Amino acid sequence: MKETFIYLPPFKKLIFLKEVSSTMDVAYKLGKLGERYVVIEAEKQWAGRGKGERVWFSDTSSITFSIILMGNLLYRPSLLSILAGVIVRRGIISLTGIPIRLKWPNDLLFEGRKLGGILGEDWGKFVIIGIGINVNEEDFPPWLDMAISLYQMTRRKITKDDILMSIIKEFSLSFGAFVNGSDTLIKEWKKSCDILGEKVKIKYGTSKKEGIVVDVASDGALIVEDIDGRKRKIYSTEELIL
Ligand code: BTN
Repeated sequence: MKETFIYLPPFKKLIFLKEVSSTMDVAYKLGKLGERYVVIEAEKQWAGRGKGERVWFSDTSSITFSIILMGNLLYRPSLLSILAGVIVRRGIISLTGIPIRLKWPNDLLFEGRKLGGILGEDWGKFVIIGIGINVNEEDFPPWLDMAISLYQMTRRKITKDDILMSIIKEFSLSFGAFVNGSDTLIKEWKKSCDILGEKVKIKYGTSKKEGIVVDVASDGALIVEDIDGRKRKIYSTEELIL
């Protein structure tokens, strides 16, 4: 384990670990012990988690880290992973110049392929934001055929430290706007999100209905209008067939 002090308020410390089950597990344990504003990065995860019980596959070419924040700070906790997506996107663009896109609730996309994802966990007294980005992969296993890495996009190898620091700097710069759920960030999310105007299917128990994604609400829900003109708020991908 390596600990480095960082001076990017409110962040204080970066903990680098060789191999862990998941940086979310480490962040949870540290959060329980009272640690806040700490970044936990792992070279390798052997039980990485994606959203909705899914496994997050990553190897040493990708960057995996979690951030522990105070829990009661966020004005609207439901916006956590959406606004985190805006900040992470800014961090990647400022380093690479590539205008990556976002997909609700928290996918980072390039030309429809998945560059990374964000996982938000709210534990009351603290929250954890987990970020995974494909960085230097030259190719992916066949079952990840919709993945893409920064290397595949730019044809240059990028150091994981650079990408981490670029994202943490963005978090530091925009921290006030982030915790206040600022309109500017929500507007930026809408502009960079690929789901507005998309046709989706909404699940109603065992049946489903077609709809169009018309907006995102101020609490982070997706607003879907079905073919009968009824609008419904959708809070998780489990309620949709994309
Ligand atoms: C998604 O399903 O798109 C979210 C993926 C989040 C992956 C990151 S990698 C760092 C952190 N540790 C985990 O186990 N998951 C998150």
